[in-house]
Amino acid sequence: MGENVNIADAPLADAGERRIDWAMRSMPVLRAIGARFGDTRPLAGLRIAACLHVTAETAVFVGALRAGGAELALAASNPLSTQNDVAAALRAYGVEVHARAGVDRDTYYRHIHQALDISPDIVLDDGCDLVNILHTERVELLDKVSGGCEETTTGIIRLRQMAAEQALRFPVVAVNDTRTKRMFDNRYGTGQSTLDGVMRATNTLLAGRTVVVAGFGYCGRGVAERAKGQGSRVIVTEIDPVKALDASLQGYEVRPMAEAAPDGDLFITVTGNRDVIRGEHLAEMKDGAILANAGHFDIEIDVRALEGMARTVNVGVRPHTDEYVLPDGRRLLLLAEGRLVNLTAAEGHPAAVMDMSFSAQALAVAWLAEERTRLEPGVYDVPGEIDAEVARLKLAAAGIGIDTLTGVQADYLRSWRFGS
Ligand code: ADE
Repeated sequence: MGENVNIADAPLADAGERRIDWAMRSMPVLRAIGARFGDTRPLAGLRIAACLHVTAETAVFVGALRAGGAELALAASNPLSTQNDVAAALRAYGVEVHARAGVDRDTYYRHIHQALDISPDIVLDDGCDLVNILHTERVELLDKVSGGCEETTTGIIRLRQMAAEQALRFPVVAVNDTRTKRMFDNRYGTGQSTLDGVMRATNTLLAGRTVVVAGFGYCGRGVAERAKGQGSRVIVTEIDPVKALDASLQGYEVRPMAEAAPDGDLFITVTGNRDVIRGEHLAEMKDGAILANAGHFDIEIDVRALEGMARTVNVGVRPHTDEYVLPDGRRLLLLAEGRLVNLTAAEGHPAAVMDMSFSAQALAVAWLAEERTRLEPGVYDVPGEIDAEVARLKLAAAGIGIDTLTGVQADYLRSWRFGS
């Protein structure tokens, strides 16, 4: 086991257990799937290496996979996002966990290697770091791996690139691309948890402030909607004309970053690309501007440029908040070192949202376990039925009923014939 439980971990593990219990209350769909897995054992005998944010919600997911019969090793998918109490609780349950908040780069990658030491049949990834290491540094393990799942947009982009170059050696299910993930996790999850991170870190007032949201994908849309709901004036920056038009028609101001830079009180990057906020933008920002990133990697804000420009850096002026003082006295506040603000300064997406993402993923793993020997290497969509089932279970848990087609309606939809 990566880091063993010791006496000092016991109170930590207790706190983690309480946190997991709390998350579980809001995850009825995953609870039901875990109970079903306990009966049907679809993952019996399978070893899974997972690289995910180590949070209470992930712990509930891990519980469902273990109920299904899987043996599991878990590493963190971000050096800052691990909830140490949850990691301690999972270890106390006998799960192999290689994760600690605040580790350096080498330790972060060592943890992924340690998770891979389980010699997995299936891999679960959030950002493609584990799959990348598997294909470059741990190729001796590849023959045994028969499938994987990827949780996030950034990871899917990388996997499609690998598939296009014929480099991907097994089938991977794009959990990120399910409707339940994009519509709820990316939008409501990222929207709420990102602002939660900003508010916990700075306690800033959002009403009346100008919030610049870079990127209007599902995540950016969520952030913009929540900020608007808090009474902020929202400016959106985009490189995609269709998304930019969508933002404009939804009533947001759309401008290039160079024009938005002097106006923003709070900047949130959610593009998945690098250097979205660069030196030339930082140079124009006003005193007290807050910089936060909600994209998967810490590449969207050019932190190097910020360091190079600063006269002084006051680390930790607030939780997860570093103050960069420019030569003319202006102070720019960088949250979470430019890493995922929602998982560093807050607790990630609420459990009620992760209920859907991890339920879709649990069903996708079970599907993969059954189909993997028949699938060629490549990136696969989650079967549509899984999406529908997750949504159906979520509605049922909330006591929300929906209509069903009448026979006449179903016949009508089937009846049209070209040329009739
Ligand atoms: N990604 C975003 N929020 C998360 C959470 N709460 N747990 C695991 N992964 C996440």
